[in-house]
Amino acid sequence: MRTIFWKECIWLIDQTKLPEKEEIIACRTVKELIEAIKKLAIRGAPALEAAGAYGVALASFEKEFSSIEEMKEHLINSARLIASSRPTAVNLSVGVERVLKKALSGNSIDEVREIALREAEKVAEEDVERNKRIGKIGAKLIDDGDAILTYCNTGRLATVDWGTALGIVRSAVEEGKRVKVFACETRPLNQGSRLTCYELMKDGIDVTLITDAAVGILMRKRLVKKVFVGADRIVQDGVFNKIGTFTLAIAASYHRVPFYVAAPKSTLDLTKTEKDVVIEERGREELIYCGNRLLAPKDVKVYNPAFDFTPLSLVSAIITEDGIIYPPYNF
Ligand code: MRU
Repeated sequence: MRTIFWKECIWLIDQTKLPEKEEIIACRTVKELIEAIKKLAIRGAPALEAAGAYGVALASFEKEFSSIEEMKEHLINSARLIASSRPTAVNLSVGVERVLKKALSGNSIDEVREIALREAEKVAEEDVERNKRIGKIGAKLIDDGDAILTYCNTGRLATVDWGTALGIVRSAVEEGKRVKVFACETRPLNQGSRLTCYELMKDGIDVTLITDAAVGILMRKRLVKKVFVGADRIVQDGVFNKIGTFTLAIAASYHRVPFYVAAPKSTLDLTKTEKDVVIEERGREELIYCGNRLLAPKDVKVYNPAFDFTPLSLVSAIITEDGIIYPPYNF
């Protein structure tokens, strides 16, 4: 099943409910979509690209317009709101901008709707195709019997289907290689334990859950051969990805474990550097509560960045749908 699709409105797997329940929810308005993005019901850079694309299409259908000018103004405003709902993954605004640009070329209300939806469907379709290509290309880096460490969730649920870093594992397994995956919990929202473990087990792929803090001992004991992670934005000097990726890359470098980043080309934002990118900071409740249970004194000061930056000097290679890029990264 696809993580996100269109059937008269946007439907998506509500990832906040996993692993307990695989529930599909409808977003009938841009407001509902933005709420879903903010609470991470849909998440992961490539899935956000499709969400942004479908979001502009949704803006064209969500109400009646008295003129094409009114409609286009609504599209432009909605596009801005959707793109800014999460700031770090560049893919969200890539999806939004692509569909907005096409839609604004329409000459009637019906034509704008048709163009917007067609382009959004293309964005979603292309995501699945490029992930399969990333998978095939990246699988060359995996040997039979490898133990792979991964972070956050970069699989079907982080994309429209298949996945990027996890898509590589999937492709290697499909080719008949025996692969063992170690999944980090990925505190505080546990995309690793909730989503990566869920989807790999569903596909019958060998997965072992570890705490984020166990990375060092795993590498010291030589239990991990390679690390594969995804990316939210790749800039001239490094990679933005889920908080904890940088620490993982340092541990990998210290232990000489290859550290691979897999991402579609749309994640490359090469006019920018580290200082140009906003790292999303999330709420304190993510750290001090587990459900209703307090995990810390209620009034403790909290710093909760959702992403971090890993310099390219720690990255062994970047795998895209067009091939593998190795250092010195002359993009
Ligand atoms: O906050 P999230 O869950 O959207 O963060 C996701 C990640 O950091 C992923 O590693 C990244 O988007 C790549 S997904 C193929």
